[in-house]
Amino acid sequence: SASQPFYGAHQSGITTAQQANVALVAFDVLATDKPALQTMLQTLTQRCEFLMQGGVVKARDAQYPPLDSGMVGPMIHPDNLTITVSVGASLFDQRFGLSHLKPHQLQTMTRFANDGLQSQWCHGDLMLQICANSPDTTLHALRDIIKHTPGSLAVRWRRDGFISPHAAASQGKRTPINLLGFRDGTVNPNASQHDVLKQMLWLSSDTAEPAWTVGGSYQVIRLIRFYVEHWDRTPLQEQQAIFGRDRDTGAPLGMKHEHDSPDYASDPHGKHIPLDAHMRLANPRTQGYPEFLLLRRGYSYSYTTSPSGQLDVGLLFIGYQANLQRGFIDTQNRLNGEPLEEYIKPFGGGYFFTLPGVMGKGNYLGQSLI
Ligand code: HEM
Repeated sequence: SASQPFYGAHQSGITTAQQANVALVAFDVLATDKPALQTMLQTLTQRCEFLMQGGVVKARDAQYPPLDSGMVGPMIHPDNLTITVSVGASLFDQRFGLSHLKPHQLQTMTRFANDGLQSQWCHGDLMLQICANSPDTTLHALRDIIKHTPGSLAVRWRRDGFISPHAAASQGKRTPINLLGFRDGTVNPNASQHDVLKQMLWLSSDTAEPAWTVGGSYQVIRLIRFYVEHWDRTPLQEQQAIFGRDRDTGAPLGMKHEHDSPDYASDPHGKHIPLDAHMRLANPRTQGYPEFLLLRRGYSYSYTTSPSGQLDVGLLFIGYQANLQRGFIDTQNRLNGEPLEEYIKPFGGGYFFTLPGVMGKGNYLGQSLI
């Protein structure tokens, strides 16, 4: 089955067409000094490389625990797996002597007006975004990493998510539909728009950021619950006004096709697209282009049911950008107070910095930081 490149200037899993499944896993680093942190990063690199490329796991004397869980069979198929490794602001505290190397915009996420952040669902020293065609592949990868890092990593929180397999199989041509029933990700640039992606995503040497960050990106994660019972009793025209798009075609209101561009200038009073519609408020293009953009890579989640019978479902919002302030933070501030807030509750997540890619064998994730 298909494999994604492990080596390169940037990690896989950002511009990679969205696979059907994700596991988002935040860890606390248990290593207490820099050499132990380095060993952990080297081990993590080896595991990611192996898991993404696949292969046969060596058999071991049966009097020992097997080297692999076996849950995907003796032959590990790549299954389009990507493991994207990011670090949180807390990694730059006094433990490892790295505080002078912290990416300038990396910070601990604080609450926005409509947030109900719960500490057990926030932050982390290390964040893995594990994506693959199937959920057994993401879980297998997670088990493998946990098995190889006892004493250096401890899971802090985890959420799994999915998009429709049809959308995933279309390699980005079909926009995934979120659990509110709307196509989500329409205006994302596609992987072939190299210049746009380059400016919106990657830190380059001409910023004032520490040199080791070149090739990395700021990652934002927001765990957002949807009140779908409430939403399902809301008139369609109100739902559409909330986003500014037609639910079924995905077209901007008053237009025909999903990829038609809304002309806000000729609709100054919001006759077609209300002034407080999600996409009109979020729209980073009116602010300047393209360094104000963020790449969204959202997944739906569906967990259990509350004691009162409400579904615990929502969105794992994942965004990447070269400029965290202009990308996510300013956009979220423009969205504060939007009508959509009545139906959603952000309860977790965090800001992370996605490490630059690994250039070749013998190199490891985070090497330029250590
Ligand atoms: C656009 C849904 C949260 C930023 C959209 C669209 C939908 C949508 C349906 C229109 C289609 C598209 O262009 O993708 C949602 C839902 C959210 C959510 C259900 C859950 C609460 C957020 C958050 C941000 C954000 C937290 C960032 C702070 C954007 C941006 C656009 C957009 C930048 C594109 C606007 C444009 O340029 O036209 N969203 N979104 N969204 N959303 Fe969200």
